[in-house]
Amino acid sequence: MENNRGQWGSNLGFILAAVGSAVGLGNIWGFPYKCGANGGGAFLLVYLILAALCGVTVMLGELAIGRKTGRGAVGAYASLAKKYTWVGYMGVASGFLIVGFYSVLGGIVLRYTLGFLLNLFGAVGFSTDGFFGYWIANMPGMVGFYAAFMLINIIIVSGGISGGIEKFSKIAMPALFAILVVVIVFVACQPGAAGGYKFLFVPDFSVLASDFFNVLKTAAGQMFFSLSLGMGCMITYGSYLSKKEDLSGNSVIIPVADTIVALMAGMAVLPACSAYGMEFGGGPGLLFVTMQTVFTQGMGGFIGNLMGFLFYFLVLIAAITSSISLLEVCTAFLIDKRIEKGQDPARKKMTLIMAVIAFVVGLPTALDGLGTNVAGGAWMNNPAEMFGLPVMTATADWLDFYDFLAEGVLMPLGAMVMSILIGWVFGNKMVSDEVEASGHKFKGAKYFEVCFKFIVPVIMAIVLVAQITSFLG
Ligand code: TRP
Repeated sequence: MENNRGQWGSNLGFILAAVGSAVGLGNIWGFPYKCGANGGGAFLLVYLILAALCGVTVMLGELAIGRKTGRGAVGAYASLAKKYTWVGYMGVASGFLIVGFYSVLGGIVLRYTLGFLLNLFGAVGFSTDGFFGYWIANMPGMVGFYAAFMLINIIIVSGGISGGIEKFSKIAMPALFAILVVVIVFVACQPGAAGGYKFLFVPDFSVLASDFFNVLKTAAGQMFFSLSLGMGCMITYGSYLSKKEDLSGNSVIIPVADTIVALMAGMAVLPACSAYGMEFGGGPGLLFVTMQTVFTQGMGGFIGNLMGFLFYFLVLIAAITSSISLLEVCTAFLIDKRIEKGQDPARKKMTLIMAVIAFVVGLPTALDGLGTNVAGGAWMNNPAEMFGLPVMTATADWLDFYDFLAEGVLMPLGAMVMSILIGWVFGNKMVSDEVEASGHKFKGAKYFEVCFKFIVPVIMAIVLVAQITSFLG
């Protein structure tokens, strides 16, 4: 049956795919600014502690559940205990919510990559100054590039585990890393880069005293999203892993690699801003306005276009290797169902079905022009306008509304329930048996037990409450 579902060709292939899932817009766009704005080195310290306590633990739990059951999110919980199938459904629901808006953003990245490529060849890549504001209200453009990005996902995911996702990740991830190094080195040579490193690294421990819970929830939420945890993504990827591979080693390598790339991204983005006198800012502005201005006006000329192309191409790779993992969560759900019924997986068809549903679900996040609304030239209004709700983060645009449901509610809940189930219902032994199935000794059983039973549930409860309050603020 395993071969029928597909399997990773090698452990390295699995790691590159899993790190590919983890390394995404969250690393390049979310991490640098959040780290800098929340105490720099002090934030980093909290982030690292949380990654060690919760990140590695939940990663291990998800990989173990996936490999033990050999099923995607829904099938895995169903085969552990029928009455917990809903936990798997929360994961697939999050997958649908995220893959849509993630692909809308991916589409914009694709547009920027092409824009700089056109510039390089002397054509006009960006028709206006303030391109981002123009672009998000350009509905045919937004939807077209959204569809193009989704098509890339379909092509890769329908190729299968080793023949599609692994094959792509094995080329894409080394390329991403190499380009990132080039950008970091180039940026480091610009006068004024030091301001970026200072913003990113210099610790301000006073924020821990004045605003501890805010730092904690920002770091924990960022870490979970960045590690692709809480929705069964790693359950699904783990389900394609051979019984001979070392689960506990893998569940440390992935978070370490993800954190390194997040820091490297910070060392590319923030010093570039400071070198060209740009304000550090969060949100879409950082990736699509500030960085574009850095390349077109700051660096300028041929080198600016070249660096701009390289930078957005690397963001594009990061976004693709992440969104394919989200689409795979949805696709695996259908494939598992078919295999249960004794049918062949029909992966190509199932991928297409799920991608089309995801595309339709995600359409509002493109059609409201990221909150531009009909008044600003978009084709749809945001949830606040549409349903007459008060304007808050979760209703200001469809993207944030979906993000609220997935990242704000379903994912912390999913991670919390999984930890409680492992800690108190299935037992830590389930994890250690699965780890030792490969002949590797399970080190730190006590450590993980304490994390599953107490630490992860408590931290997740804090994240859940904090996310809900901030999205409703
Ligand atoms: N980790 C990716 C990022 O940092 C996003 C992502 C991919 C994700 N798969 C996921 C987030 C599953 C949560 C769950 O951008």
